[in-house]
Amino acid sequence: MSPHILVTGGAGFIGSHTCVALAAAGYTPLIFDNFCNADPRVVERLETIIGNKPVAIQGDVRSRADLDRVFEQYRVQGVIHFAGLKAVGDSVADPLGYYDNNVAGSVVLAQAMLAAGVDTLVFSSSATVYGDPDQSPVPESAACRPANPYGRTKRMVEEILSDLHHANPSWRISVLRYFNPVGAHESGLIGEHPRGKPNNLMPFVSQVAVGLRDKLAVHGGDYPTPDGTGVRDYVHVMDLAEGHVAALRHSERQPGIVTLNLGTGQGASVLDVIKSFERASGKSIAHEIGPRRPGDVAANWADPTLATATLGWRATRTLDQMCADSWRWQQANPNGYEPSAAR
Ligand code: NAD
Ligand code: UD1
Repeated sequence: MSPHILVTGGAGFIGSHTCVALAAAGYTPLIFDNFCNADPRVVERLETIIGNKPVAIQGDVRSRADLDRVFEQYRVQGVIHFAGLKAVGDSVADPLGYYDNNVAGSVVLAQAMLAAGVDTLVFSSSATVYGDPDQSPVPESAACRPANPYGRTKRMVEEILSDLHHANPSWRISVLRYFNPVGAHESGLIGEHPRGKPNNLMPFVSQVAVGLRDKLAVHGGDYPTPDGTGVRDYVHVMDLAEGHVAALRHSERQPGIVTLNLGTGQGASVLDVIKSFERASGKSIAHEIGPRRPGDVAANWADPTLATATLGWRATRTLDQMCADSWRWQQANPNGYEPSAAR
């Protein structure tokens, strides 16, 4: 049996795109997901893109028995760990649920890997670990001051992995801190479909464009930024996906632990995103400037130079491409993977 890359959370937004990038690089992804925030029909879409159907196993990273079964049944050469919960507001309301899923789940996964003799791990961290950074671009050496339980779960797992590596120096760990992942695969077959009202900007904008929502509330127009709206580092999900493959390759070459920002190094404002989406879709995006969203920072964007130096990776897709690909996905699948709405 050919070796597999176990992709926890592989049916989700970034995980599914990473399965495409893994397959393109000659790896065999093995999806492991409890489908709490994913649609199993993504697997058929992946089959269309990749050319063969990836194995998908329903399981929970908090279940040692679920994981042990996978490690027994398949030859796993490495793990990319996306499985987790990611809504900041929910994490404030349900901190224990978040610590259980994101922190306890990661500990159980690492224990299962240790028992199975698998020592290569790529972990989904987030720029949210920086909290409100003192400056942008933000280097990895910036202070970590996560401002909510979700961010603290990511930082705690980073620290756990650092301790794990200290105790087991032969481990190969990449901690990837993503900035703002957006866009979709260029086929328009897979993409992001948040349940309920989107919290994040790009899904909200695309739902306005497709007519699912009336208008976007711009959260704040009085920030100390060039146009007064918040500035972020939007990075195309396929660039991120390729970053995971590059991290895996790096880890296969040498043991150690690396912590890397994945971003473009460029900031874009909310109004920049609206304008770019209008160009991509040919639709006008109704919007209204409203109050700031509590907890938001004015601006943050990555210093991605360490990722480029370490992995030879850099994000290449532009904001216009991110919007064009988000739009292609949204337009073809206004209700996500629901069959009535697909194509
Ligand atoms: P997502 O919700 O689309 O994907 C997460 C996947 O994990 C889902 O398919 C979900 O069903 C699965 N899952 C959740 N808990 C699980 C469990 N206990 N066992 C098994 N599967 C479980 O989210 P995403 O945007 O693809 O994010 C992937 C990872 O990247 C997450 O860890 C997230 O915190 C991190 N991240 C995301 C962003 C972002 O903006 N999307 C930014 C930074 C970091
Ligand atoms: C949010 C999360 C962060 C996560 C990141 C990437 C919070 C506080 N932070 O950050 O933990 O890592 O997503 O997924 O939720 N905006 C609007 N109107 C909207 C939605 C957003 O104007 O309806 C603005 C925001 O004020 C911000 C920008 O758009 O300036 C981007 O927002 P969003 O996509 O939610 O990402 P972040 O705030 O960076």
